[in-house]
Amino acid sequence: MNHQLSSSVRERFQQRFGAEPIVVRSPGRVNVIGEHTDYNNGFVLPAAIDKAIYIGIAKRDDDRIVLYSEEFREEEQSTVLGVAISDKHWANYILGVVDQLNKRGHKLGGFNLNIDGDVPVGAGLSSSAAVECATAFALKQCFGLDFDKMEQTKIAQKAEHTFAGVMCGIMDMFASTFGKAGHALRLDCRILDYEYVPLDLKGHKILLLNTNVKHSLSSSEYNTRRQECAEGVRLLQEGGEKVESLRDANLEMLDRHVKPVNETVYRRCKFIVEENKRLLTACEALKAGDLATLGKKMYGSHDGLQHEYEVSCRELDFLVDAVRGNEAVVGSRMMGGGFGGCTINIVREDAIEPLVAELSKRYEEAMGLQLTSYIALPDDGTSLA
Ligand code: GLA
Repeated sequence: MNHQLSSSVRERFQQRFGAEPIVVRSPGRVNVIGEHTDYNNGFVLPAAIDKAIYIGIAKRDDDRIVLYSEEFREEEQSTVLGVAISDKHWANYILGVVDQLNKRGHKLGGFNLNIDGDVPVGAGLSSSAAVECATAFALKQCFGLDFDKMEQTKIAQKAEHTFAGVMCGIMDMFASTFGKAGHALRLDCRILDYEYVPLDLKGHKILLLNTNVKHSLSSSEYNTRRQECAEGVRLLQEGGEKVESLRDANLEMLDRHVKPVNETVYRRCKFIVEENKRLLTACEALKAGDLATLGKKMYGSHDGLQHEYEVSCRELDFLVDAVRGNEAVVGSRMMGGGFGGCTINIVREDAIEPLVAELSKRYEEAMGLQLTSYIALPDDGTSLA
């Protein structure tokens, strides 16, 4: 918990709105392995991290909604039943949640809300999911609404689909809601069943290296990948296979029914089938303390994302290639949707500082860009702050 941020959100709320708020937090996330598998009914291995969104909230006497972003120093206004997509992108994650709660029949009144956080925006750490989960939980606390954590993840996901236009899977919201300090969670996205896996990294830490780029392709290509996977499932079904999603597929089926028809769709589907397998192996390795195998699978995941799923970019590839073969680095790969954001690296603690210094220099020389780095500690999910 960042006590400084929770206090500053509280104080600024008091100054702006002259009332005492409820303050909540919901964290960003990392994903150890299992990328683009969530919307294919597969497995993911995310963890909530010690960087979070903080929201202050209190009821008003009328039906107005007044939102204030401390980071962007901007205000947005609406009414409970009049919420619509705004041109202020930060506000949409909040308004989208209000819209979902309305649609689900929850009774809200007007409210004042302020928001701040230390999840870097555009870094692929799911600040948007954190905003959505924090908003749902803040409104639940403020108006005494009745929904559980599972429902919170679904409300948040739907808000992203409808108000941000990204057809994301459930991973980010799930991690932000259900995270547990010291643990990753292995989520089966088909049945939404999960298991906490201790992130026991034996003298290593999770180091995030931020490319500081977010190519504009990211959301359109994301939605295209979803369609390509759906097309793969359609081809399998047309070929007579009993599959509901790529979770049910194997390489033989893909070779038979997809490869001859559409080579691109084949490569996308092959990646998903293999990524699920990599995740299961990596997870067992993590439980057994076999970091070498975990690391190998992380590099394998990156290779697939780069060459088969084609969602990486030169900046991400540069950072992964720069640590391959480094004995202090267990594994490295691009993380999240792709086309920018961070690489996730598992690095021996004593090697982190010199590694970041060296890579910053090399990255700037090669790409003309600043490198930013964060250590991510697995933390608890959505809570009061
Ligand atoms: C984004 C989405 C997630 C997931 C990842 C890729 O973060 O929001 O649902 O699909 O990309 O694994």
